[in-house]
Amino acid sequence: MELNLENKVVIVTGGTKGIGEGISRSFASEGAIVVVFGRNQQEGDAFVADLKESGGKAAFRFAEMTDEANVKEAVDRTLDEFGRIDVVVNNAGVNDGVDLGAGVDAFRGSLEKNLTQCYSLVHHCLNALKQSRGNIVNIGSKVAETGQGGTSGYAASKGGMNGLTREWALDLAKDGIRVNSVIPAEVMTPLYERWIARQPDPEGDLKAICDSIPLENRMTTSQEIADAVVFVASPRSSHTTGQILYVDGGYTHFDRRYTCG
Ligand SMILES: NC(=O)c1ccc[n+]([C@@H]2O[C@H](COP(=O)([O-])OP(=O)(O)OC[C@H]3O[C@@H](n4cnc5c(N)ncnc54)[C@H](O)[C@@H]3O)[C@@H](O)[C@H]2O)c1
Repeated sequence: MELNLENKVVIVTGGTKGIGEGISRSFASEGAIVVVFGRNQQEGDAFVADLKESGGKAAFRFAEMTDEANVKEAVDRTLDEFGRIDVVVNNAGVNDGVDLGAGVDAFRGSLEKNLTQCYSLVHHCLNALKQSRGNIVNIGSKVAETGQGGTSGYAASKGGMNGLTREWALDLAKDGIRVNSVIPAEVMTPLYERWIARQPDPEGDLKAICDSIPLENRMTTSQEIADAVVFVASPRSSHTTGQILYVDGGYTHFDRRYTCG
């Protein structure tokens, strides 16, 4: 299927690692111009060089996403170089384990890391998205729906992101801008490796998780998340907006009698 993404300018936050890396690579393989926003210049430069070597079109913009001035500058420099923005993928985030005991300052910090930065990026891209009649893809988490325990800030942020997906989709429909979310549940990435290592029995817990994923008892790959993102961001999804799409092998919603052996 031709996705018609050739030369579309796509911002992917946190796009050098984990799920973000998969998303960047998938857009690049469709001929899009991928602009990765991230906070490690060296890693970003190496990633972009690698993408270009394999024929992709890409650039890196330094942005610690919680710093609004960084975000604005990265957006301005993207427009200076490429003249347009067609897609914004809000991927950067961290399950930081800010629980009810952590206190209000830590909770606010978690919202900054996982939610406010997404508002900031979309705010600064808004005029460009209106001009291109572009679209936004938010990367959420099953935690918004299921909870996880011990992670109030992350759960609130991802719940907020689902709310913003619907709110922005409605608000921006008049401008021809589509907004959707893609929701992973269990994907092996650097973030996930750190999280599973903190569990009481990392190996046993990982096996139990995989056993309870209905489709093929395995984790979802970054590539599978990326393929869904690329499809919903493409003009082939031209009448899809405000949708929250779970790419999770059925993990989040299926009947527990069949998923908890
Ligand atoms: N891995 C999973 O199983 C899983 C499950 C549900 C949701 N998610 C979501 O998917 C997204 C990607 O997760 P991942 O597992 O690939 O994470 P990861 O930690 O492996 O990669 C995230 C990337 O984003 C960057 N990043 C994070 N915060 C940033 C900030 N404030 N400014 C700039 N860059 C920042 C990191 O440096 C890193 O490069 C996140 O939003 C996460 O909540 C992941």
